[in-house]
Amino acid sequence: EAADTLVTRPPVVCVMGHVDHGKTSLLDAIRETHVTSKESGGITQKIGAYRVDVNGNTITFLDTPGHEAFTAMRMRGAQATDIAILVVAADDGVMPQTIEAINHAKAANVEIIVAVNKIDKPNANIEKVKQELTEYGLIAEDWGGSTIFCPVSAHTKEGIDNLLEMILLTAEIIELKANPNRKARGIVIEAELDKGRGPVATVLVQKGTLRVGDSVAAGSCYGKVRAMIDDTGRRVKEAGPSTPVEIQGLNDVPNAGEIIMAMDSDKEARNVAETFIAENKKKLLDDTKHKVSLDALF
Ligand code: GTP
Ligand code: NA
Ligand code: MG
Repeated sequence: EAADTLVTRPPVVCVMGHVDHGKTSLLDAIRETHVTSKESGGITQKIGAYRVDVNGNTITFLDTPGHEAFTAMRMRGAQATDIAILVVAADDGVMPQTIEAINHAKAANVEIIVAVNKIDKPNANIEKVKQELTEYGLIAEDWGGSTIFCPVSAHTKEGIDNLLEMILLTAEIIELKANPNRKARGIVIEAELDKGRGPVATVLVQKGTLRVGDSVAAGSCYGKVRAMIDDTGRRVKEAGPSTPVEIQGLNDVPNAGEIIMAMDSDKEARNVAETFIAENKKKLLDDTKHKVSLDALF
């Protein structure tokens, strides 16, 4: 039946790696070179995730550090990312947080692509990085393995296009699909209390289509989606699978990693949130951030 049709969805990608190996620089370089929204004129709003267009194909990048995203989401049995880019500085090689990142990605069962960054540096040594990573089961194709290694420079932008192509190739192989024709389910990527707009949450829609006017529940929070902004800062009315949007209308600030679901009615959304609170009461009472919502509901 048409309503159950699975449609190919864009890959959701996060960036992981040791401190200062260039995660932020790489995300910025990709954003600068490939985000299509420049012509929209407005100030591009940072919503914690963004999409790039590569020859008509979309890739969704999360700004959230991979390890944080994985930890928060695994606790809730959720998973936001399909592919982790493991950034390793070519002049520094494998470091303690590189290994932590590998362990997180493996535990979360996400595909790993290695980006060997800072290849513009005179002391860059790509082969040494490949050699060091063999110890952790990441063996480059030219070393007889199956892990994709992409030499890049976030500074000169060398290798960025190739990295994006390799992400799309990997996405094709793992066949990512979702049904857009159902009530939305997604993950809260980040959330905050905005002085003017109240609680705002960056949500990654994973299944279905989220629409303005939908009643939603996200952990202990609930509400009606009052407005949605996409990653270019534009107001949108709906968001399908793998689309990040910032939503307004929740009664409180949900935790990152919380699952958000569109419900049949405001009442049902509130019931789901209240059930969640009852089940997690003890835990939530220890969490000062949630005392507000508890006070409001009990
Ligand atoms: P944390 O978020 O603090 O863990 O760091 P990060 O991994 O996000 O690294 P960041 O992007 O902040 O870069 C760290 C430093 O490396 C900065 O001084 C960057 O300018 C520099 N850097 C990043 N990418 C490159 C690169 O491709 N080439 C060179 N030469 N320097 C780079
Ligand atoms: Na840094
Ligand atoms: Mg950073």
